[in-house]
Amino acid sequence: MADAPEKTFYLETFGCQMNVHDSEKVVGTLMQQGYRQVPTVEEAGLVLYNTCSIRDKAEQKVFNRLSDYKKYKAQGKIFGVLGCVAQQEGEKIFERAPYVSLVAGSASYRNLPAMLVQIEAGNRATGLDDRNTDECFETEYTSRTNPHRGYITIIEGCDKFCAYCVVPFTRGKERSRTSASVLSEARQLSDLGYTEIQLLGQNVNSYRDPDGKTSFAELRRDIVEAIDASLVLCDHVHLPVQSGSNRVLDAMQRLYTRDEYLERIAWIHSAKRDISITTDLIVGFPGETEREFEETLSLLDVVGYDSAFTFKYSPRPNTPALRLDDAIPDEEKALRLAVLNEKQRQIQTQRNKRHLGQTAKVMVEGKNKTRGQWIGRTSQIKVLNFTASEGVELKTGSYVDARVTTSFPNSLVGEMVESSG
Ligand code: 5AD
Repeated sequence: MADAPEKTFYLETFGCQMNVHDSEKVVGTLMQQGYRQVPTVEEAGLVLYNTCSIRDKAEQKVFNRLSDYKKYKAQGKIFGVLGCVAQQEGEKIFERAPYVSLVAGSASYRNLPAMLVQIEAGNRATGLDDRNTDECFETEYTSRTNPHRGYITIIEGCDKFCAYCVVPFTRGKERSRTSASVLSEARQLSDLGYTEIQLLGQNVNSYRDPDGKTSFAELRRDIVEAIDASLVLCDHVHLPVQSGSNRVLDAMQRLYTRDEYLERIAWIHSAKRDISITTDLIVGFPGETEREFEETLSLLDVVGYDSAFTFKYSPRPNTPALRLDDAIPDEEKALRLAVLNEKQRQIQTQRNKRHLGQTAKVMVEGKNKTRGQWIGRTSQIKVLNFTASEGVELKTGSYVDARVTTSFPNSLVGEMVESSG
């Protein structure tokens, strides 16, 4: 009897770390179902896109990919759309891209095995949930791509409803995992030799142990003990502010004022450790005046961010901001974005100079052979490229000390501090 043909899949991931980690679980699930992952669409029987819809540009990417590859449908390849665009657009995707067989949002992945059976039989399958789903996606087998940095989901969904944001509609309501299951996964990773753990969620601040009273802060402390090392938390806080104007913050439904935000920043600045602070900013929210934009610029000076992710406001389906008037023209958004980025670049140029002469512990991420430099990441999550003596071989995922000799706006350069003898 002839063997059944081998089942292969190709998976491309767009968007946030949550999606990257969901993909690790999807890969684990598919492998359990007898599929093998291949590196190109050409080699694959099943082609999957794990998609992002946070801004329109991200959403367009998946439709571009689908139209680039639809020619392969004739060869019998099966296409599937997973993630946020799938949840947001639902069965409309079948109309727009009729060669797609599977549309599944993240809350339905635990039904992937059953959906795979459907599409293998030549049918269409959908996995869509309403916002009130309790489904989480915990898998027995997660195929992690990075052998040193392990992601762990602690909470899914978001209940916050910021006016611009599509996440509450694509990821459902907040569902926290029990601290017991998070801790057991953290211990497992530690036993496997992982040297960095990142706790993930759309809104980790809202984490609440469904079994008891463990808060986000306590969970972190327990994990610190679980991974059995000292001073293991990074010197870094990401605190998205979005705007420096009280009027715009209110219209965005952000639930804090500029001063309340600055209070938290002062608290971080008062820590003994030099904690790097990064943020997210949106320009051109409906009705944002030139003056209000300038308040965002002045906030950058007050805080002194080490890095910022900056975006032009992008109208998203279902969101409250769609109902607001006074859209800002795209050219104006682009102009504001350029001004904001230039200002932040200058701030980073200045701020990174403070590291000159410092010795930092870095996690080795790899080697840039052409430049003869090792790539390291500091506890402040900054890239520190460094040289080491010839013949020194470093393991990725290990930690070494490096002295900073040069600073740029987006990275540092240095040399490894090698212990004598
Ligand atoms: N338009 C532009 N940026 C957005 N973000 C979220 N929604 C939108 C949108 N509709 C940004 C926010 C958020 C980050 C993940 O993406 O800054 O913090």
